[in-house]
Amino acid sequence: MADTAEASAAAPGTGPPLLEVAGVAVGYNGPDGYTAAVADASFTVRAGETVMLIGPSGCGKSTLLRVVAGFLRPAAGRVVFDGRTGLAPGPDRAVVFQESDQLLPWRTALGNVAYALRATGTPRARARALARDHLVGVGLAHALDRHPHQLSGGMKQRVAIARALALAPRMLLMDEPFGALDAQTRGRLQHDLAALVRRTGTTVLFVTHSIDEAVLLGDRVVVLGDRPSRVREVVDVAGVDRPDAPEFTAARRRLRALLAEEEETAHAPAH
Ligand SMILES: Nc1ncnc2c1ncn2[C@@H]1O[C@H](COP(=O)(O)OP(=O)(O)OP(=O)(O)O)[C@@H](O)[C@H]1O
Ligand SMILES: [Mg+2]
Repeated sequence: MADTAEASAAAPGTGPPLLEVAGVAVGYNGPDGYTAAVADASFTVRAGETVMLIGPSGCGKSTLLRVVAGFLRPAAGRVVFDGRTGLAPGPDRAVVFQESDQLLPWRTALGNVAYALRATGTPRARARALARDHLVGVGLAHALDRHPHQLSGGMKQRVAIARALALAPRMLLMDEPFGALDAQTRGRLQHDLAALVRRTGTTVLFVTHSIDEAVLLGDRVVVLGDRPSRVREVVDVAGVDRPDAPEFTAARRRLRALLAEEEETAHAPAH
């Protein structure tokens, strides 16, 4: 992914929120009735910001992302995106998942991206041209005509990112998109994503397990804890994008402490 022009978008953190999550409770209906996953989540994402969601496994990170994507309705509270509530899924909130099988196996890299564009009404020739541009933008110029089974895990995630960005979403939703990759590939994709986000001014809501990923990619980190979960703290990490910066160590220590407290609470004996 070449890092050419810098974004001309307004500095992140200014202006009204693009996304507001206020007092959201959400859970699942099963054979034993309703089980709460998230008890009370409130946070905002402003245009141009990258906000990270972190917390222990099962605390409801993916669940919250599904609510923002419009796949799930909250049981209580408010989710306002771009002034709208009652969200249905739409290309204005494109999602990238962890799984490497999110591509259509019978279509090429180019075909996968073009197909998503065609599905949102883009004419065929324009869809193919846009798909090509976006795949080149994520460093896949050499792999346009390959099928998913001919791509590495990292390359498949690049296709998924190109597909999401090709839709020109108002917000990119990412659920541990690099979670299944080896450390080296993960590092490279993190770097490339950061450059791409800077260049395009894309707003991102990103779920991660990794403290380092949260600090390196995020402007703010929403720390979830307890079960059903609530927001414990929102940590500002804007501008901390190098592991050798002194602020990096401080931010990492703060997040470690918050997540360790969370572990202790989870394992404390009941009184
Ligand atoms: N489709 C579902 N039906 C019922 N319960 C679910 C469903 N999906 C998730 N849950 C439950 O909701 C809670 C939150 O799950 P969620 O997947 O959001 O957690 P997470 O924070 O994303 O975890 P991980 O870090 O492991 O991905 C868990 O207790 C989980 O078992
Ligand atoms: Mg999850």
